[in-house]
Amino acid sequence: MSDTALSHGRILTGIQPTGEIHLGNYVGALKPFMASVDAAKDCFIFIADYHALNMVRDRAHLKDATYKIAATYLALGLDQKKVAFYRQSDVSEIFELTTILSAITPKGLMNRAHAYKAAVDRNTALGKQGADLDDGINMGLYTYPILMAADMLIADADIIPVGKDQIQHVEMARDIAGSFNHLFGETLVLPTYKVQEGGTSIPGLDGQKMSKSYNNTIPLFDQPNRRKKLIMKIITDSKLPEESKDPDQSTIFQLYTQFASADEIQEMRQAFEQGGMGYGEAKKRLAVAVDRELEAPTEAYHEWLANPAELDAVLEEGAARAGAIAKETIGRVREAIGIVSR
Ligand code: TRP
Repeated sequence: MSDTALSHGRILTGIQPTGEIHLGNYVGALKPFMASVDAAKDCFIFIADYHALNMVRDRAHLKDATYKIAATYLALGLDQKKVAFYRQSDVSEIFELTTILSAITPKGLMNRAHAYKAAVDRNTALGKQGADLDDGINMGLYTYPILMAADMLIADADIIPVGKDQIQHVEMARDIAGSFNHLFGETLVLPTYKVQEGGTSIPGLDGQKMSKSYNNTIPLFDQPNRRKKLIMKIITDSKLPEESKDPDQSTIFQLYTQFASADEIQEMRQAFEQGGMGYGEAKKRLAVAVDRELEAPTEAYHEWLANPAELDAVLEEGAARAGAIAKETIGRVREAIGIVSR
């Protein structure tokens, strides 16, 4: 019923509080995402801390990672007046809705979820069989798609910007909401996914895709001098400044295209092709271009992190706004299913 009275054109996304954000995350996901948020009229963004609990067993880590994610988005210009920015854990209606949706969700649907299947495949590869195929898989991972459906449905969200890996989760939320409406009458808004554009991946220090698992990242909010040191370590071939180089084979040039102006990019391209620039000079220019874009956000990030009470205040305000919508939704849902005790 996404075109009916209940839908608002609301965009929603959840972010798992994981570790350090790097330039690859920024170029590939965060930057295009922030641009789409700017254009959105009604937007909910939350930190999926109870999703993270399925993996994280360290209280300091969960707490820090949550603050870091909050500081990251605020430093990149998330406008808390426009966006409801909150912690999942602060909106308790999500968990009530999870219980309700669990009651109508077939177990077989969860068996088909990619993340669960991947975990079973890993156990199969280890030679496990039968009941042991579920080794190491907790119920939170198994029912992950139900909690995620509740995240979307509690907020009457219409549009969920996703990477390809999350499409199935939105489809499941849609299925679950459709079943609910079929059983109890039109109550929930069916969300749709929108595959995030501009998901370019960039090379890391060693020329492979920048990724934490390759240990070749440049942290997004490193202090400028540390960032420059890393940039100076980018691996290159041994061509001399006067030799002609293929810019499209160069990690430095590829990173430069993400931060420099069109004129600057053209200049470096020509200099590379004509043998007019050494790698050292190119790295310096890259560092300058990166700093130009990230200097102010880096400062803002460290300021936010030094003031967790302010982060709490922002997130609590967001939770109050999301909570008001969540209360309405849970009221409709309770009414629909016949839980009318309050
Ligand atoms: N599963 C998402 C991820 O890992 C995070 C998430 C949780 C989410 N709940 C959501 C995303 C609801 C969109 C909508 O990236």
